[in-house]
Amino acid sequence: MAKNNPIGIFDSGVGGLTVASAIHQLLPFESFIYFGDTRHAPYGDKSKSTILDYSRRISRFLVESDCKCIVVACNSASAMAYKELKQDWPEVPILNVVEPVVNEVARLKARKVGVVATRATVRSQVYSKQLQKLDVDLKVVQKATPLLAPLVEEGFAGTEVSTGVLAHYLADPALKDLSHLILGCTHYPLLQAEFEHYLGQDVQVINSAEMVARRLQQMLSEKGLLRELNTAPKLHFYVSEKTKAFSKTARLFFGQEIKLSEKLLPA
Ligand code: DGL
Repeated sequence: MAKNNPIGIFDSGVGGLTVASAIHQLLPFESFIYFGDTRHAPYGDKSKSTILDYSRRISRFLVESDCKCIVVACNSASAMAYKELKQDWPEVPILNVVEPVVNEVARLKARKVGVVATRATVRSQVYSKQLQKLDVDLKVVQKATPLLAPLVEEGFAGTEVSTGVLAHYLADPALKDLSHLILGCTHYPLLQAEFEHYLGQDVQVINSAEMVARRLQQMLSEKGLLRELNTAPKLHFYVSEKTKAFSKTARLFFGQEIKLSEKLLPA
């Protein structure tokens, strides 16, 4: 794997841009290829076999595009496809977005942790199982919030629509007295201010993007795969269907100069 090759990053749509942006801030010289599967978003309500199928096809595209590693910037795909992707490409370093968060949260003195995520992620119980493995006494409550990713994907973040839906979900009595809330979907950092506003100062809202970026830096450094060139990186964005919301969010994070191409998932 050549050090100067791009990092591959994928999600069902705009959500993984929160991770790509954190990676770009921490590792500004790294090139990346981002794939947002907007044609098939949302992933969170789909079956394991469907999410696995899409994830495999995107990963194949990224590997064939000479990516030196893959970041599964989607919790639903991390929960449903990560193990299989690692088996399919044992020689490619693959990072999921769940483990870096679990490892950091287990170190915090958390009392009661809430996890908001898609149905697929909640169904997998990936957060509760992994957190409780590291801290058996930790109380973990999961809540599926399936309308949030489509709202973000459609460009409704920060409107009264998203505020209302969020308030409805967070009013669940099971989420009372949290010390921490994990945003278990990469779309949700685009609603972070709304989460914080609703929950107030007593609850720490955890956005995984920076944790994932730090873990990636560590992984690339351990494998001798950090880019050597200090020249401008190439950032290439692919979507399976162009949408206004994707272009808008990508420009918001990366400026006007983004290169956006439409590409169907390979068969
Ligand atoms: N952003 C993804 C996640 O982290 C998927 C959201 C969706 O497409 O349902 O789960």
